[in-house]
Amino acid sequence: HSRLLIKEETVAQSVQPAMQIKPLTIIYGSQTGNAENLAEEAAQMAKNHGLLASVFDMDDISVSQLSEAERLLVITSTYGDGEMPDNAQLLWDEINAQSAPSFESTYFSVLALGDTNYDDFCIAGIQWDERLEQLGATRVAQRIDCDVAYEAPAEQWMAEVLPTIAQKGSNLDQQPARTSEQKPKKHKAKFNKESPLKAKLLTKMRLTDECSSKETIHYELSLMDSGEHYDAGDALNIIAHNSATLVNDLLSVLNARAEQHETYNGKTDELEYIFTELLEIRQPSKDLIHEIARLSSCPELLSRLGDNQAMSDYLWGVDTVQLLKRYPDNALSPAQFIQLAKPMAPRAYSISSSLKKHPDQVHLTIASVRYTQDERQHNGVCSTYLADLVKIGESVTCYFSANKHFSVPNDLAAPIIMIGPGTGIAPFRAFLEEREATHATGDNWLFFGDRNAKTDYLYEQELTQMYQNGLLTRLDLAFSRDQAEKIYVQDKMLAQGETLFNWLENGAYLYVCGDAYKMAKDVDATLYTIVQRYGQYDENQTQEYMANLKKQKRYVRDVY
Ligand code: 2AM
Repeated sequence: HSRLLIKEETVAQSVQPAMQIKPLTIIYGSQTGNAENLAEEAAQMAKNHGLLASVFDMDDISVSQLSEAERLLVITSTYGDGEMPDNAQLLWDEINAQSAPSFESTYFSVLALGDTNYDDFCIAGIQWDERLEQLGATRVAQRIDCDVAYEAPAEQWMAEVLPTIAQKGSNLDQQPARTSEQKPKKHKAKFNKESPLKAKLLTKMRLTDECSSKETIHYELSLMDSGEHYDAGDALNIIAHNSATLVNDLLSVLNARAEQHETYNGKTDELEYIFTELLEIRQPSKDLIHEIARLSSCPELLSRLGDNQAMSDYLWGVDTVQLLKRYPDNALSPAQFIQLAKPMAPRAYSISSSLKKHPDQVHLTIASVRYTQDERQHNGVCSTYLADLVKIGESVTCYFSANKHFSVPNDLAAPIIMIGPGTGIAPFRAFLEEREATHATGDNWLFFGDRNAKTDYLYEQELTQMYQNGLLTRLDLAFSRDQAEKIYVQDKMLAQGETLFNWLENGAYLYVCGDAYKMAKDVDATLYTIVQRYGQYDENQTQEYMANLKKQKRYVRDVY
C-alpha cells in the first residue's frame, strides 16, 4: 500500500512540478451583491497571477482564520447610515475587539464601495483598512474608494493589487480547503447596467388617496419575451431620465443652449441629451459644491468643506439649479459643469411581486418625491420620471439585482415576521404572494404602518383579504398620525413582545424593509429589548442571540 502511495506522489510531482500554489483569501461584505460579484471576479482574475483564491462571505470566516491568511483582499460596501453590511457586522465586531489577534504576517488591500451622496462615504472599507494596519498587517496597494459607478475603479484596483500581492508571502504545496470554484454558481442575470432590458409599463395605480399627504404608486411592468426572471426579495434597477423642466432650468442657469454640442466621456452630443440621460443634474455632486465654494470663497460653504454632515445640513434640499443661482458670480461653463457632475445612476427598488403569481410581470411600489423649497418645486428624479413622464405602453430601461439573503425561507414550514412600514411593504407583498404560490405552511406575520389609515393604507384590500383567508396569520398596523401620540411599528412589536419572542424561538425568520436612518435602528433596538426581556438574558446573552439570528440569516434587512 505504502509503496503505491509513494509512487503516486512521485508521479504527481513529476507530472506537475509547478503544483506549488499561492493562496489568496478574499472576503466580502455585501448587501446587494455588488461586493460579492467583485470578489468572485477578483478570484477569477487572480488565476492569471498564479494565485488560488478562496472567497468568503464575512459571515463564514472567523478572525483567527483570517489572521492566518498571508494574502488578504477585503471588498466591502457601506450600508444604510454609514454601517457595515449585515454580513460584515459580526466579523467586524470581532476584529475591532481588543482581543483581536495580530495580523503581522498578512499582506492586504481593501476595495471600498459606497455612494458619495451619503455622509460617511465608504466608511466600512475605510475602517477595515485602518484596523488591519493597526493590527500589524502590511498594505500592498492603496485602498480604492468607489462611487456608484464602481466598475472601472474596481478593475483598476484588481489590476494593481493582484500582481503585487502575488509577489508577497510564501507558496504552499497543497490546496486550500475551499476555493471559489467549489462554490455553487448563482444564476447569472441576462440583463445588466451595460445591456439593460426594456420593460413595457402596463399599469400605474395610485395607492394613497388623492387627499393623502403622500403619493405612493403601484407600477406593473411587462417582462414578456425577455426570458428574464427574478426572486421575491430582489430589486429592479431603473435608469431614469431627467425631466425637461429640470434640464431647461439648468440650461438657463448655465447660459447654455439645448442644441449646443459638448463632450462627455469622450463622446460629443447635444447638451440637452447629455443633461437628460447621462448626468445627475438634480442633486449637486460633492465636486460641484467644492468648486462653487472655492470660486465663491463663500465662508459658509468653505467652513463646512471637511464636514459632510454640516454641509448637507446647510444645503438641505438644495438642488443644483438653486446652488448655481445662489452664487451667480461664479458662472461655470457647460463643459466645466459636465466635468463636475456625476453620471446618472440607476435607482434600485425592492420588487413588490412574485413571478409565481404574476408570470412575465414585475411590480414596484414607489413613493413620489416632491417638495417645495424657496418657492422652487423639487421632484425626485426616478420616482417622478415614472409617475409623470412614462406613459402606459412605453418602455422603462431596467435590470434586476439579486438580494441573496433577503428571500423567503427554503423551509416552507418556517414562520416569518415581516416589518415594513411605508414603501417597506414592497418586498413583503412579494413574499406573501410567493408563500401563497408555493403553498408554504409556515405562519406569516406582517407589521405595516403609515401616516393615516384612511389615506395611506397601501394594498389595504389585498392585505385584508390575505388576513381573512388565513395567509396572513397576524397583521399589526401602526398608523402614526391617526391619534395625538405617534404609534410606530416598533410600538406594535413591543406590545406583542412575548408572542414575537416565541415565534423567534420557533425558528421564525425576521425581515425589515424601509427607512435605514430611523425606523430600522428603532426596530433593531426594540428587537433587542424583546429578546432581553422575554428570554431573560443579560446584555451579552442578548447580543449573542441577535448575532446568531443574523448569522443564520434569520434577521435580514433591506433598508435604504
Ligand atoms: P410619521 O411620518 O408620522 O412620523 C411610513 O413612512 C411610516 O413610518 C409613517 O407612519 C411614519 O410616521 C413612520 N415612521 C417615522 N419615523 C419612524 C421611526 N423612527 N420608526 C418607525 N416608523 C417611523
